Parts: sequence; C-alpha cells; structure tokens
Amino acid sequence: MPKVYDGKLTNMFDISGKKAAIFGGAGGFGKAIAEGFAANGADVLILSRREEALKAAAEEIKAVAAEGVQVKYYACDACVEEEVIAARDYMVSEEGLGGCDILVNTQGLNKKMFSWEIDSEYWEKMLKTNITSTMYTNRYFGNWMKENNTEDGKVYDEAEFTSGQPSPCQGYGKIINMSSVRGIRIIGNGGMGNVGYCTTKGAVEMLTKSFAADLRPNIQVNAIGPNITYTPMMVGLLPPDEETRNGIAAPLPAQRIGYEIDVVGVALFLASAASDMVTATTIYPDGGLVATS
Ligand SMILES: NC(=O)c1ccc[n+]([C@@H]2O[C@H](COP(=O)([O-])OP(=O)(O)OC[C@H]3O[C@@H](n4cnc5c(N)ncnc54)[C@H](OP(=O)(O)O)[C@@H]3O)[C@@H](O)[C@H]2O)c1
Repeated sequence: MPKVYDGKLTNMFDISGKKAAIFGGAGGFGKAIAEGFAANGADVLILSRREEALKAAAEEIKAVAAEGVQVKYYACDACVEEEVIAARDYMVSEEGLGGCDILVNTQGLNKKMFSWEIDSEYWEKMLKTNITSTMYTNRYFGNWMKENNTEDGKVYDEAEFTSGQPSPCQGYGKIINMSSVRGIRIIGNGGMGNVGYCTTKGAVEMLTKSFAADLRPNIQVNAIGPNITYTPMMVGLLPPDEETRNGIAAPLPAQRIGYEIDVVGVALFLASAASDMVTATTIYPDGGLVATS
C-alpha cells in the first residue's frame, strides 16, 4: 500500500500539510488551484515573472487559506534553466516551504497564428513557454522529490542524473501539467490559427507521459486538459460578454465554456493520494468537448 494513503477513505483527498509549488500561480487557473490547495491546508509557493502580480495574488490566496497555511511567492522565468534551479532551491529551503510534495505547471502562452503567417519568433517563444519550461520544472522539482521524499533521507545529487542510470531513490510526489483540449483536438474557432498552440499542448501531453515513466514508481505525473476559459490569457481572444462566450459552447453537453474553478477539483484529485494509481494521463474538464468533436 502506498505510504501516502493510510487506508482511511475520508483521507484520500487530504492534502493538508503538503507543500505545493505552482508555476503561473498568479494567473487564471494557477491562482484558482493555489486557492483550492491553500483552502484545503497545503502550503503554497506561487511562481511567475511579474512580482507585483504575484504579491497581489498571494494576498488573495491568503484570504481563503486554511489556518496556519503558508502562502509565499517567488519571481521566476520558467523558460530560464538557472532560474528554475534557483526556484527549486528556494522552494525546499527553510526560507521557502522547506520541501516539495506537489508541482503544478500553469505557465503558458497562446496566440492565434494562421499557418500562412506564423511569426517564427513567437513560435519559438511558445515552444519555450509551453514546453521547455515544463521540462525544466518537471526535471528539477521532479528529481528533487524522487531523491528527497524518501525515508532513507538520501541527499539530492544532480550528478547522479548524468550517469545514464536511473536514480535508486523512490521518493513520492505529484506533478500536474497544464495541457488543453487543444492537445488532442484542433476543433475551435474553425480549427484554424492553432498550429502553434495545438503543437505545444500535444507536446505537453507526451512530456507528461514520458516524465511519468522516468520518475516512477512513486511520483505520479499527469495533465489537465481544460476547455476554453475566460482567464487573463483569453482576454481579447474571446468575447467580453459572458452569455456570448458561453454561446460558443452551446453544442457541448455542458452548454458553456469553462470557468477557472472547473480545474480545481481535478487538481485536488491529482495532488492527493486518491490518484496514486493515476499516472501518465490527462483528465479533461471540458464539458464534453473531446467526446463530441
Ligand atoms: N484559458 C484557457 O482557455 C485555457 C484552456 C486550456 C488550457 N489552458 C492552459 O492553462 C494554463 C494557464 O492558463 P491561464 O488561462 O490561466 O493563463 P494566464 O491567466 O495568462 O496565466 C498564465 C500564467 O503563466 C505565467 N507565465 C507565463 N510565462 C511564464 C514564464 N516564462 N515563467 C513563469 N511564469 C510564466 C504568467 O505570469 P507572468 O506573465 O507574470 O510570468 C501567468 O501568471 C496555460 O498553460 C494555458 O495554455 C488555458
């Protein structure tokens, strides 16, 4: 029986006392997940580039956090390898949260670019933000959890991962990457202009599965694939009026697009012992889009 699950059904979703790093934690989905985790007793560190946005988001998260929960922030560009390493070091230091049990990646970039006018510079930026940054965080936080969330107290040693041999450690952890329905479906806005975004989200799905294999057996790596949702990312891409926006999704079983809260329950499940046998997969809180397109 996995050690994180003590056999009491009511405790399966309990994440109290866990330490979660949430990249993009000042953004739409990231902040919603951070609020959900903090309200359920997990300490959270939110990370992204703009410090002012992080500071404001941390205040909002603190307002809904359970008693005694720590909410901290750290400015980091997840596209820069050294910054991700520094962020991991901060997370596990006493100044940070003193460890890491859960990693969530909600950093991301989206721009509609039709195939006949793809901006090469922006293409590279999307690959870096949506794929490469996720590789860095999965690598550095994931391997830290594998090496350190063990009972034998083995110390993390980066050199062990250049030997070509898998680590002997079997530390525990949960990793949640943000994919999208666009990771497996081109439908949406006529299915056009999404070459860049769909390509990166398809890659996130395979990156998730591949890390699940590498970080086995006690770290579960999964993705969430939401439907379109009116977050800051989508301002300007979706109509400002809520009713009109939901009208876009009228043919779906849910008859609406997503709200930020729609991913929170899925994230809580994937962060908790309830999902210990769920790995290398994606859950789609999509209102039925994948099934109907
Ligand atoms: N909204 C949707 O319709 C939708 C649907 C399906 C999937 N998704 C995916 O869900 C995730 C979250 O999207 P969202 O809608 O919540 O977007 P959002 O509100 O724009 O949040 C994205 C966050 O990522 C951060 N970020 C961007 N680049 C970064 C970098 N290089 N390093 C660190 N942080 C970075 C941004 O903060 P800074 O700019 O301050 O760094 C921002 O806080 C994305 O992966 C997105 O592709 C969104």
